[in-house]
Amino acid sequence: MSTATARACANIALVKYWGKRDAARNLPAAGSLSLTLGALVTETTVAFDPALASDELNLDGASARPADVSRTSAFLDLVRAEASITTRARVTSTNDFPTASGLASSASGYAALAVAATTAAGITMSPRALSMLARRGSGSAARSIFGGFVRMHAGQAVDGSDAFAEPIVSRLADRVRMVIAIVGGGAPKAHGSRDAMDHTAATSPFYRAWVELVPHDLAAADGALAAADLATLGTIAEANSLAMHASAIAARPAIWYWQPTTLALLAEVRALRQRGAAAWATMDAGPHVKVLTSIDEAEAVAAALRTVPGTTSVTISGPGGPATVTT
Ligand code: DP6
Repeated sequence: MSTATARACANIALVKYWGKRDAARNLPAAGSLSLTLGALVTETTVAFDPALASDELNLDGASARPADVSRTSAFLDLVRAEASITTRARVTSTNDFPTASGLASSASGYAALAVAATTAAGITMSPRALSMLARRGSGSAARSIFGGFVRMHAGQAVDGSDAFAEPIVSRLADRVRMVIAIVGGGAPKAHGSRDAMDHTAATSPFYRAWVELVPHDLAAADGALAAADLATLGTIAEANSLAMHASAIAARPAIWYWQPTTLALLAEVRALRQRGAAAWATMDAGPHVKVLTSIDEAEAVAAALRTVPGTTSVTISGPGGPATVTT
């Protein structure tokens, strides 16, 4: 039996991935940009065991649903093909934050699984190859292979060989915090991001405009990172997130993740800015609001968000590091 354990951090996109150019290879329609978060960690152990007749998955202490087991099994098939083995595996994964609630558990989950499974299977991959492997599990997972600010490239190749993530060095990494306001107790979301982005692409009259917008936001965000300009980065991130949600809201039938508390938090972020604070909101496939701010202002921003009725909890996260093997 061959075993390995890996840890990976979740990430929050500042320029979102929402839509695919190829579902089979899980290739994104456009690039994206994220910040890896040190406070949201997944730890995953993979044990290839010849005694197993099928793959097993334990998530946060309980047997996973059949749909999650088959998605994990399909991912392990990629690793087995690479390693020329057929052995089934026992996968045990724990998140130190709510699973499948719109807090990027698939990002840290597939990044940790990619690192643990390849190590347990005895194969060595470059970080770039690991990021392409993780992408097959979940597009956002490609970014969680790396720490700090991370850029995902959409690429153009049919085989996906140029659709990988890579870290972006910016002085801003030492100055930023993400304040995460949980809404609705972290309950599982109504629409998984995979189905929701496919539905948006298939039915939203605004989807094409969304895909055309992303390269412009990425170019502006790259400039902001190079100039260590937090205000410009935050302004782009908030506008980009709202544009992503606008495309989903315009889908037929509509997909919306927000709850009344989500809007109250957005209003609080705007009020903070009007009082001169550095605070910009971004939302993913869930009701939670994540606020990009500076180290110096993170405590004050968190305190303000805690006053918003309906907010379940508020956590401050700094940038996280790359996915690593722990044992
Ligand atoms: C809203 O990476 O979960 O968080 O590739 O289908 O697994 P799949 O999608 P996933 O989508 C993430 C969507 C998002 C935005 C983002 O993280 O960029």
